Amino acid sequence: MESQLEQIRAEALAEIDAAADEAALEAARVKYLGRSGSVSLASEGMKTLSKEEKPRIGKLLNEVRQSVTGALDSRKAALEAQRDTAAFADIDVTLPGTPVRIGALHPITQLQDRAIQIFRRMGFVLADGPDIETEFHCFDALNTPADHPARNEQDTFYLADGRLLRTHTSTIQIRTMESQPPPVRIIGPGAAYRRDEVDATHLAQFNQMEGLYVDEQVTVADLKGTCEFFFRELLGKDARVRFRPHFFPFTEPSFEIDIKAGALGGGEKWLELAGCGMVDPAVFESVNKRRGDDAYDPERISGFAFGFGLDRLAMIMSGVTDIRLFTENDVRFLSQFR
Ligand code: PHE
Repeated sequence: MESQLEQIRAEALAEIDAAADEAALEAARVKYLGRSGSVSLASEGMKTLSKEEKPRIGKLLNEVRQSVTGALDSRKAALEAQRDTAAFADIDVTLPGTPVRIGALHPITQLQDRAIQIFRRMGFVLADGPDIETEFHCFDALNTPADHPARNEQDTFYLADGRLLRTHTSTIQIRTMESQPPPVRIIGPGAAYRRDEVDATHLAQFNQMEGLYVDEQVTVADLKGTCEFFFRELLGKDARVRFRPHFFPFTEPSFEIDIKAGALGGGEKWLELAGCGMVDPAVFESVNKRRGDDAYDPERISGFAFGFGLDRLAMIMSGVTDIRLFTENDVRFLSQFR
């Protein structure tokens, strides 16, 4: 019995070692370890052995089974490795790969994100409002009377139902105050629309960023400090900021903000970049009327607002001379802003 088992082992190991593929290996497994394979038959034969022989032969039988199983496993791993090597034989892994083109955010989006980050550090949060607006939110609530030129059909896109495409993001001031009591400290980036002839410096749809800060005892000093800090962070410490008296229906007093900075081409010319002012009490009154309360009591609270165009700022900052490039989506232009 012992020599029979040794013979089975020798044969099995030789056959497994010679198996040329996985099919041959499987045939060998069935031949030796399968239900009627020689190792299995040998263990059937155990029954006929004497009590003294059983432990010794049983131990040997186990060893034979283990070495056949081990040989099957390692031959299988070797065959798999061979197959993998063959599959890669014609591939030169040292060749350079196909480059992946990485996209980038639109230059206006990049500028908008930077501006948001700066205002966030001063505690401003994002606010929003619809592009399609009512005359109330775009004009009446902003103290802009019915005969104001901005309301002219030639200047604004009206819908058949009387609504319109907002001409500025100042609508977000009203939307915000309608829905929450003071204190308010928001920035509202978004699209604005005007019925302008499209040329190198005008688009019918452009981008603005609005700001509004309302609380008790907000002053012009807060307005100046906030805007100066913003423009210095955006344009560099050499930026000089000038507040020039101006008029907006919804702020009083009102200013235009002029800037000189190396980052803006470095010229000696003051560039007019934003409008701002202290929220007009009439605006608070129309908000209160809408809310049906006195949350924005102009005797108790005050605030400032500002707004600026992102497109023009982006143009000046990057030396772009035609605003239409921002909307044409030519990747040769856009890929320069990474
Ligand atoms: N909405 C004004 C514009 O579009 C800018 C502005 C915003 C002015 C807020 C004052 C306060 O020109």
